[in-house]
Amino acid sequence: MGARHGRTLTGLDDVELVGVADAVPAAARALAGELGVPALEPDELLRSRLDAVWLCVPPFAHGELELAVVRAGLPLFVEKPLGAGLAVAEEVAAAVAAAGVPTATGYHWRHLDTVAAAREVCAAHPPRLVSATWLDKVPPPAWWSRADRSGGQVVEQATHVLDLARLLAGEVAEVQAVRAPSSDPGRDVDDATAAVLRFASGAVGTLAAACAQPAKTRAGLELSCAGAAVELTETALTVTTAEGADRREPAVDARLAVDRAFVDLLTGGPRADGLVDYAEALRTHRVAVAVAESARTGAPVRPG
Ligand SMILES: NC(=O)c1ccc[n+]([C@@H]2O[C@H](COP(=O)([O-])OP(=O)(O)OC[C@H]3O[C@@H](n4cnc5c(N)ncnc54)[C@H](O)[C@@H]3O)[C@@H](O)[C@H]2O)c1
Repeated sequence: MGARHGRTLTGLDDVELVGVADAVPAAARALAGELGVPALEPDELLRSRLDAVWLCVPPFAHGELELAVVRAGLPLFVEKPLGAGLAVAEEVAAAVAAAGVPTATGYHWRHLDTVAAAREVCAAHPPRLVSATWLDKVPPPAWWSRADRSGGQVVEQATHVLDLARLLAGEVAEVQAVRAPSSDPGRDVDDATAAVLRFASGAVGTLAAACAQPAKTRAGLELSCAGAAVELTETALTVTTAEGADRREPAVDARLAVDRAFVDLLTGGPRADGLVDYAEALRTHRVAVAVAESARTGAPVRPG
């Protein structure tokens, strides 16, 4: 994801990429070479008269890096999830709030024009049932398969659909989850998680996540609303009302839009909807961590 953001940022006319850092020097050199910028140590980078930092490390590596950027008083983009667990994210959120630095996070789906359209439908037709789904394969990075490093599938992956469930149906008051443990001795991330969600609005929902299949087959949400039905994936939105069904595809490249929107925020450019700052991302992360905790303990959990 660091490479992806680096390529996007170098393609923006009003951005100058200053350098790249990585815990693995060869990885930093390879990306820096591709992008035509120096490979630097993180503290060298922070002394390089920056206007902002994009932090794209795996879930287990969060904490000290964010705190160093915040101490330097710099705006910060952080990839989702905010951490493998909750404690680091809560600590960083407090530091971000105290410093007042602008932040953005990698919940890029929120930049889809189809998500904005779904939001309008849900404002007019309150969701009563939300079914969120993420059925996928195990991603390649080795850290993903270790629950203490990635946080597990719900925290690392399904967080995108939990974020949209919050956006479209409001805050989640309580979750209760069960799990199908890993069928692979090399992975301690569960094969599947099934959760029931209770929303503060009175709506109910489910999350179904699974990662033992050979390919991604589905990731998205279906919302049954009062007077409408909404089906949303990263590539399509279908809204069904009494007048019939209307299907459309996004006209926006959300992965580009998320970087463009944060640069615009920092440069005083046009304000786009969709940016998820650290505090808002933390509210989604709390729900994901609550589902993971409930799956582990079997007890209902109220996200903080
Ligand atoms: N927004 C999205 O849709 C999306 C998609 C994929 C991944 N991601 C997120 O992006 C993050 C990175 O995922 P990835 O697939 O790029 O992982 P990756 O393992 O491919 O790359 C992570 C890089 O971070 C480096 N790194 C690890 N610890 C570090 C540290 N302490 N300091 C500096 N560098 C460090 C690693 O050496 C590696 O080069 C994850 O949190 C993942 O969830 C988001």
